[in-house]
Amino acid sequence: MTAYIEIKDVALRYAPQGKSGVGTLAVEKLSLRVEKGEFVAVVGPSGCGKSTLMKLATGLNFPTEGVVSVAGEIVNGPVSIAGMAFQNPVMLPWRRTIDNVLLPLEIVQPHRKYMRRNKARYRERAEALLESVGLAGFGQDYPWQLSGGMQQRASLCRALIHEPELLMLDEPFAALDAFTREDLWCVIRDLHAEKGFTTVLVTHDLREAVFLADRILVMSARPGYILATRESSIPRPRELEVTYDLEFGTIVQELRGYIAQARGWILALPFESTGSQPHRGSAFSVCFLSGSWVVACLMFPITFYRHHFASL
Ligand SMILES: Nc1ncnc2c1ncn2[C@@H]1O[C@H](COP(=O)(O)OP(=O)(O)O)[C@@H](O)[C@H]1O
Ligand SMILES: [Mg+2]
Repeated sequence: MTAYIEIKDVALRYAPQGKSGVGTLAVEKLSLRVEKGEFVAVVGPSGCGKSTLMKLATGLNFPTEGVVSVAGEIVNGPVSIAGMAFQNPVMLPWRRTIDNVLLPLEIVQPHRKYMRRNKARYRERAEALLESVGLAGFGQDYPWQLSGGMQQRASLCRALIHEPELLMLDEPFAALDAFTREDLWCVIRDLHAEKGFTTVLVTHDLREAVFLADRILVMSARPGYILATRESSIPRPRELEVTYDLEFGTIVQELRGYIAQARGWILALPFESTGSQPHRGSAFSVCFLSGSWVVACLMFPITFYRHHFASL
């Protein structure tokens, strides 16, 4: 059966900048499935193609090879059932917060058609959303009157105002302090529990991934593919205290191992790997480590010899 999001053997090569070059191969042999209602986190080294994956799943970019489908349809344009939030909330400074939240309804069909007639109803929905993220009474403020965390909350409301089936979050909390970030984890957790939308979260924060997601996908270094998959077996509902539990720490440590593997820092670990090229990172590690040993073995006698002569 087709999954809600299905990415199958996908490659995406960006067009070259200028006249020369072949362009960047951002992802290759990328395959993944996300079931309806599932919360999936994507982690991986910087530049490995996480944002590219998000753009592929929302129809902002198209594969050079392979197929992407969402809700049973092949993606061949922007996916209107998706809401998106990014690291930078990018609010329009001349619009009040509530008008920023309402912005997608002025663009996304069929809401655009009904917006003028049903403005009062849509404003009520925006106010209810602002209240659900702790921003009751701030709708009339301009974004520049809000803190970074408050702007990010408002940007979540904007992503959810058209009641999307799919929420795509690309490092939405990366620029926030640790306490604000943890507050927002709880906001997302509660919204997901209440509304049941399918969620894909890209993050650098492994604790964030384990706290929020049902399943964590680890991407390889560029060109990115899914190197490993780990369930977050922490029972729901999850309170912030679970982040101090042994099981939580064990999963975070395991993911840290995969990331080190993706970055070529360690030898292959005895974890189950998925994806089509599971040993590419390990092969690099083997070459890197054996190279380091050869250099170390050569340097030691030379240093010893020079030191011995210098002391004579
Ligand atoms: N629009 C673009 N044009 C050319 N290259 C791009 C573009 N977007 C991203 N890239 C390149 O593709 C690779 C993957 O980028 P990205 O998906 O943004 O990585 P991540 O989100 O994992 O940090 C990087 O090498 C980046 O420089
Ligand atoms: Mg990115």
